[in-house]
Amino acid sequence: MLRDADVLSLLLQRRPGHSLEQPFYTDPDLYQIDLERIWYRDWLMTAVSAELPKTGNYVTRQIGAYSVIVVRGADGIARAFHNSCRHRGSRICSAAKGSNPKLVCPYHQWTYELDGRLLWAREMGDDFDPTKHGLKPVHCQEVAGFIMICLADNAPDFAPFRAQAEAYAGPHGLKDLKVAHQSSIVENGNWKLVMENNRECYHCAGSHPSLCRTFPEDPRVFGTNPGEQAPELRNHIAKCEAAGLPSQFMAAPDLQWRFIRIPFLGGAASYTMDGKPAVAKRVGRVPFDDAGSCLAYHYPSSWNHFLSDQGLIFRMNPISPTETEVTTTWLVHKDAVEGVDYDLDRLTEVWIATNNEDRAIVEENQKGVFSPAYEPGPYSTTHESGVIQFVDWYARTLQTRLTGRGVIAAE
Ligand code: FES
Ligand SMILES: [Fe+2]
Repeated sequence: MLRDADVLSLLLQRRPGHSLEQPFYTDPDLYQIDLERIWYRDWLMTAVSAELPKTGNYVTRQIGAYSVIVVRGADGIARAFHNSCRHRGSRICSAAKGSNPKLVCPYHQWTYELDGRLLWAREMGDDFDPTKHGLKPVHCQEVAGFIMICLADNAPDFAPFRAQAEAYAGPHGLKDLKVAHQSSIVENGNWKLVMENNRECYHCAGSHPSLCRTFPEDPRVFGTNPGEQAPELRNHIAKCEAAGLPSQFMAAPDLQWRFIRIPFLGGAASYTMDGKPAVAKRVGRVPFDDAGSCLAYHYPSSWNHFLSDQGLIFRMNPISPTETEVTTTWLVHKDAVEGVDYDLDRLTEVWIATNNEDRAIVEENQKGVFSPAYEPGPYSTTHESGVIQFVDWYARTLQTRLTGRGVIAAE
């Protein structure tokens, strides 16, 4: 059994600039440590606002051992609660999503208000105090059209991310968009392999023919390092900033999250096969079609693209040491009519193909990492500096939380 001390010594032995040792991608004990020290502690992308447009709309999420309900209250506020009844613990909502005027436990019908207060519990006696039996809250923040939760008792400060999310995603008016399509796939790979794959385009030319029509595979153009920006990226940022769209590289000091607005190839407007917009109605206050893509990631759970004609929200959820669910949500103008303003196949084809291609390469990566012959290999400093940033964030965060200190060895 791997204990905290074993994981710490693996972290201390880590070779910077290299992939992690095998147990980080395969071991059930290490996966449990990831859940407890990362997933149960950090802010997680959990839904887009458009999934909960009305009072009583809810979604449920399973994050490790925790079941969580996210529900829109009568006051318009999105709240999150542990999906465990305060009577004898039954799950209250079993569906992935739905709508209810109240939250009613199916076991003995204890009935909760959408803000978590217990309203009704049949014949519990005169000394029963309903105010002591409301649903347990989970930290929940809604910003710029998406909803994030944190399972920790004391959540990390959300304010810095909120400010930048409002600045960068705000002009895209995400909260006024509608869900055009949502897809969930399960990749048979550890969540870190899924995120590592997302943080580089070293693999794009070999795997993503449709994405490569519009997405620049040069990291100096998609902006991994603020100090190494190609002229077309600098020009694009300047043009968009002048038009009122925050665009320059903006990140947390520890790089847990980052925003940047990048150009598409050849002045393309969207992730389509011909580069033309997929949706006739532009979103929010974006002033022109060729605004490129505002890229936003937030470790450990999400990466996103905000375009002139759509929002693409990617939410990742670990299921087991070697299974990860990836949910993609396509958001379009709420007045856009399918078949008139957009064709659903055209809107989704590039990223449905890209997601499937990524699933295949992540699964091959996982199978190869299982081999006793696997050893950590070097990342390309030219093409995989985004992966280095992610793995460094992961190792530093885990080490800090295992020791209670911020010391980073071997770096
Ligand atoms: S367990 Fe929920 S009402 Fe009994
Ligand atoms: Fe990919």
